[in-house]
Amino acid sequence: MFPLVLSILAGIAAPAAAAAGPSACSNITTQLGSSKVSSNLLSQEYSNSLEYWNALLDDYKPSCVVYPKNAQDVSVMVQAIRAADSRFAIKAGGHNPNTFYSCVDNGVLLDLSDMTEKSYDPHTTLATFQPGGVFGDIYDYFVKYNRTVVGARLAGVGTGLALGGGMSYLSPQYGLACDSFRELEIVLPSGEIVTASEDSNPDLFFASRGGGGNAYGVVTKYTVQSRPVGQFYAGNLIFPFPQKDKVIEAIGNFIKYNTDPKAAIIGTYEKLGTPDLNLNLDEAIIMFLVYDGEDSGDAFKNFTSIPTILNTMSLKTYPEVVNMPIPLSTELSRGANMFRVGVHRPENCSYENALDVWRNWAESNKGRYELLSLDFQPVPKSLTDASKAQGGNAMQMPDGPWYWLNYLLTTPPGMSEPDYKAVQASYRDMIKSVGNAEGLPLFINDANHDQNPLQTFSTFAKLQEIKKTYDPDNFFADRTGGWSFA
Ligand SMILES: Cc1cc2nc3c(=O)[nH]c(=O)nc-3n(C[C@H](O)[C@H](O)[C@H](O)COP(=O)(O)OP(=O)(O)OC[C@H]3O[C@@H](n4cnc5c(N)ncnc54)[C@H](O)[C@@H]3O)c2cc1C
Ligand SMILES: *[C@@H]1O[C@H](CO)[C@@H](O)[C@H](O)[C@H]1NC(C)=O
Ligand SMILES: *[C@@H]1O[C@H](CO)[C@@H](O)[C@H](O)[C@H]1NC(C)=O
Ligand SMILES: *[C@@H]1O[C@H](CO)[C@@H](O)[C@H](O)[C@H]1NC(C)=O
Ligand SMILES: *[C@@H]1O[C@H](CO)[C@@H](O)[C@H](O)[C@H]1NC(C)=O
Repeated sequence: MFPLVLSILAGIAAPAAAAAGPSACSNITTQLGSSKVSSNLLSQEYSNSLEYWNALLDDYKPSCVVYPKNAQDVSVMVQAIRAADSRFAIKAGGHNPNTFYSCVDNGVLLDLSDMTEKSYDPHTTLATFQPGGVFGDIYDYFVKYNRTVVGARLAGVGTGLALGGGMSYLSPQYGLACDSFRELEIVLPSGEIVTASEDSNPDLFFASRGGGGNAYGVVTKYTVQSRPVGQFYAGNLIFPFPQKDKVIEAIGNFIKYNTDPKAAIIGTYEKLGTPDLNLNLDEAIIMFLVYDGEDSGDAFKNFTSIPTILNTMSLKTYPEVVNMPIPLSTELSRGANMFRVGVHRPENCSYENALDVWRNWAESNKGRYELLSLDFQPVPKSLTDASKAQGGNAMQMPDGPWYWLNYLLTTPPGMSEPDYKAVQASYRDMIKSVGNAEGLPLFINDANHDQNPLQTFSTFAKLQEIKKTYDPDNFFADRTGGWSFA
């Protein structure tokens, strides 16, 4: 009899952790009402919440998905998650490809998609937005006022981008997205709802400006300095790969010499596992050229003077600009995606070296990837100046010019786990061999979990202190994924 009771107890005790999710979910359902909670695996709502840009994350099944409407709802959730000792995840746009950063297995998924209130005050020119939806929706709202906010370069990306810094086409003028923050409403791990700004909880405000989401609390409202928008001269140039040396030279020169803050570029080298059917190529170079204004002068001449396959430069509205090269490109690029970041100064033709190393890997690893890309993202001096002028962010960015690289790897569908691990490790080692510049921060938004970007910030010790103040019992570290503070 006794052993039987014990084994029943053990049976209950063993899945106790697994029971924590459902227990938190039932508590939340009682408090918030069932209309804000979904645990029906077959419902459209639940399955929409389980769509991630890294499609490998779709397989993790939360015990329930909760759709809070405001900070009070989030506060209730945080306290119930704590009481039940459940795991959880916060999901805004779901583009972070790292496991358990915005997905959870057997726990509570806090899906922010029903928090989409926005406002614009023409007197102060401040804009507010809740964290739900994607930047495309946010831009569509503010463009009615001929204003925008500094955010994603692709419409489909979510607001978690701003907490990781946030590189926009407007960044050379106004700094990163987080530099335009003026006030944040944040639900702390204790459930307390606080304001973070220069005046109120300034240390929390500092850390939230580019120190990454999922670490100090849940941001439930952003108040930011809005920016004027009108017409842009913008488009894509697609070059055949044989032009790669000319294009990389032009990218290098742009990083080093462009001083017009209205001009922004992304240079991307793309390699497909098999030839693309439309263009009949397996590799191409796609430039994104964006000028805030109708006349770009000579800013892009070094690119436009190289023969292209396609040139879509024309006058565009801001919503059109963030739908380049094609609308829904974020959604269409869902797959087994993972990326990594690099950071360099443009000295010694570092950009040519990175391209060569990446291209050699691409050539000798055919069949192990569906798509590879290498993106060059300049950080000009005007950007780091604009950041400083607004108080500086969590990176305390050293003076530009320098640049971030994003190395994307999309693995073929159905790859076995050992093959997946092996190709990820090989890509990682190739990127390690390129090295990084000393004294420059790795960009959180493009980083792989194992790159520990916070440790590259000159402010790391300060961020560790702030983490201890606002998350003293490691609520986030123990119950969800995220960047290491160790
Ligand atoms: C196609 C594509 C294009 C991109 N373009 C850009 C670009 O132009 N500029 C750029 O800087 N980056 C860009 N990125 C990188 C992007 O910024 C990161 O992937 C970012 O994590 C995406 O935010 P999200 O809200 O979509 O994702 P999520 O995965 O939902 O959120 C990212 C992280 O932040 C946390 N988080 C989100 N919201 C909150 C909140 N309110 N409170 C607390 N924590 C929160 C989440 O828990 C998660 O850990 C791009 C990524 C992709 C895939
Ligand atoms: C529900 O969560 C609250 C904290 O928000 C806690 O005080 C309470 O004990 C929980 N109830 C149950 C039944 O777990
Ligand atoms: C926005 O700009 C356009 C073009 O300059 C102008 O016609 C329109 O009145 C402006 N709208 C607002 C709300 O200011
Ligand atoms: C274009 O390239 C030349 C060198 O060929 C350089 O001097 C110039 O500054 C570059 N211009 C821009 C805007 O990148
Ligand atoms: C560039 O090369 C020179 C000479 O080899 C070296 O002294 C310098 O440190 C290098 N700069 C960078 C940023 O690597």
